[in-house]
Amino acid sequence: DTLAAPNAYVRASETADYVRSKLPEVLQKPKVAIVCGSGLGGLVDTIDAEPKVELAYSTIPNFPRSTVQGHAGNFVFGTIGPQKTPVALLVGRAHFYEGHTIDLVTFATRVCRLLGVETMIVTNAAGGLNENYEVGDIVCLNDHLNLAGLVGIHPLRGPNIDEFGVRFPPLSDAYDLDLRRRTHEAWKKLGLDQQKRKLHEGVYAFVGGPSYETRAECRMLRSLGADVVGMSTVPEIIVARHAGVRVLAFSLVTNKAVLDAGSRGNDEAIQTMSKSELEEHLNKGKANHQEVLDAGREAAKDMQALVKQILSDLHEG
Ligand code: ADE
Repeated sequence: DTLAAPNAYVRASETADYVRSKLPEVLQKPKVAIVCGSGLGGLVDTIDAEPKVELAYSTIPNFPRSTVQGHAGNFVFGTIGPQKTPVALLVGRAHFYEGHTIDLVTFATRVCRLLGVETMIVTNAAGGLNENYEVGDIVCLNDHLNLAGLVGIHPLRGPNIDEFGVRFPPLSDAYDLDLRRRTHEAWKKLGLDQQKRKLHEGVYAFVGGPSYETRAECRMLRSLGADVVGMSTVPEIIVARHAGVRVLAFSLVTNKAVLDAGSRGNDEAIQTMSKSELEEHLNKGKANHQEVLDAGREAAKDMQALVKQILSDLHEG
């Protein structure tokens, strides 16, 4: 039972000890952790070629295995930027929809904390709900709607683990203001404000998945104030904040969620359009996993450059 099983602190400590034993001394205390979302594994290319250690999730005790196509499943350690800042990258993450408990979904975050991580940069692929967002745009998150959490699927449910943090942690300042400010500065410094792809600030709605939202659900989420929707990130952010880790999070808009009602609520369309016209109309904007991966590939380079720039600036002061 939950109360008798070793708690996440005990398990994460065991895992952190194992990971440390596989690392040379210079990599043993990563300052920053970077979580790579769908198709964003290229972030690994921002770290120095040497020293670098890659540990497959399948070899790490207590670690969940990622089962999604396009998520490799490696814990990568290296250095980055002019200051050779030690970093840890999580290439591939465990999602709740894969069947993992919410506790396992956030396990790697806790291991990062125990290794010494102070700042976490979380990336994901998400559906755009804000009408002003285009596929390929990047959204710096400034808040979230934890839909699953509001009904009890919450990573901090259960006896509080005091070694990590307090029973009732505040989340009103979860998305670090200073890091967000640095993000906008880095975007300009790189000249990325001169191109088509935009950097926005927005609210992320966490849904359980794995099916994409219906049109009505998209309209509901939009009317609740969400700008993007996705199936990850929020549990990790809560657990990171609980343990005092500073957080910066980015969504890559990989598809535009469909907000129009389609044939529903449109009596005229269903009666006057031909079957093929209706099908074309309904297929417009239909989310699919391939589209998500393609948009990720194209925008990944900007995201990589942005993260690298933020990290360089961070350690300049
Ligand atoms: N990930 C990428 N696109 C998504 C969408 N539309 N909904 C949820 N998660 C997503």
